[in-house]
Amino acid sequence: MSQAPTNGLYSGYHNRPKAAVANPLTQTTPGSDGGEYLRRYWHPIALSSEVGALPKAIRILSEDLVLFREHGGKLGLLHRQCIHRGASLEFGIPQERGIMCCYHGWVFDTTGAVLSVGAEPETSRIPANFGQGAYPVREAHGMIFAYMGPPESMPEFPIYDTFLHPIGNDLVPLKLTIPCNWLQIVENACDPIHNAYLHAIVSGEQFSAAFKVQPALDFVETPLGFLSMATRHVKDKVYIRASDIILPNVAQFAAGSNDASTECFNISCGLTRWVVPIDDRNSLYIGYGHYNERTEQFRRAPAEELAWTGWALSARPPTVRTRNARWNPAITTRWSRRDRSPIIRQNISAPPTAASSCSAACSAARSKQCEPAKSRPSRGSARMGRCAPIITNSS
Ligand code: FES
Ligand SMILES: [Fe+2]
Repeated sequence: MSQAPTNGLYSGYHNRPKAAVANPLTQTTPGSDGGEYLRRYWHPIALSSEVGALPKAIRILSEDLVLFREHGGKLGLLHRQCIHRGASLEFGIPQERGIMCCYHGWVFDTTGAVLSVGAEPETSRIPANFGQGAYPVREAHGMIFAYMGPPESMPEFPIYDTFLHPIGNDLVPLKLTIPCNWLQIVENACDPIHNAYLHAIVSGEQFSAAFKVQPALDFVETPLGFLSMATRHVKDKVYIRASDIILPNVAQFAAGSNDASTECFNISCGLTRWVVPIDDRNSLYIGYGHYNERTEQFRRAPAEELAWTGWALSARPPTVRTRNARWNPAITTRWSRRDRSPIIRQNISAPPTAASSCSAACSAARSKQCEPAKSRPSRGSARMGRCAPIITNSS
């Protein structure tokens, strides 16, 4: 039987979705392709404020776990089921050192070592031969992170330079649970088009009115991922917004309040967030909101700050090809890469590298067609001499 075209009239029968075949990247269980990939990174798993005197049951990367604090405040992350008879350590009792299972009183420390075996004889060889599954945890800026991969492959702990930029920046932890696979949320962040519809028309002006304008898109490679860039003509201004996508599951976004009404240049970050799988169908949207004077009020950055990004607003724009724009190698050297770890190390004495995102964004965007807006901007035929004021808004 011949197959009818899937774009014909009333094509419902011939155009049904095929049975879904899971993309390996969407898998989160131990041993799966995606699950092992994600287990090579540190991930935030809870807010510090969620773990007090009582243990907290959590599920991360399809594993049931328990978070607890020893009396001194030290955090532990253990497999939730006790290795003795499977009782849930959610009902365990935190100790001066470790946590005691509620069922037969075995005690495990934060490394998973068996400290005590309750009613077993003192000569028991259990402590020497068995352990409760445990993962290393770190606490930073009000959030708890875990590394759930092989200890021998543990990357450095991620400290992004955006955390401390600009001086006085406040990090406010936030967490949402979303009934969705992690990859769909990551993909959403790379898609600036939905801002013009969902966040500007369908839901009202959730950011600013400038977001109603359809953007031209650029995707510029970075050492840790890419910039998802949206360039808009807004009246007599060119508005560039770059989102910093750090693979596999981190993104940094500018605040959305810029209405493109005044010329400005902002290199601060409004949000740093991770998407951390709970399991294959649920995810944590977890990260930090950044609060500082620039997230509230866009303004031109100080001249010295612009200088080290490679150009100044008043200078003649560099001639850079937009198509296949690549990261500036001079900027790349400012970044520290360690294996597959998404780490940018903070070097307080040097200019913060976060702005290098902005420099690349602006270099690429400056090469766009810059005729005053009649319709949406398009690639090519750049005439740099007639640029409208450029507004950048990158993280
Ligand atoms: S089940 Fe945990 S000590 Fe027995
Ligand atoms: Fe969105």
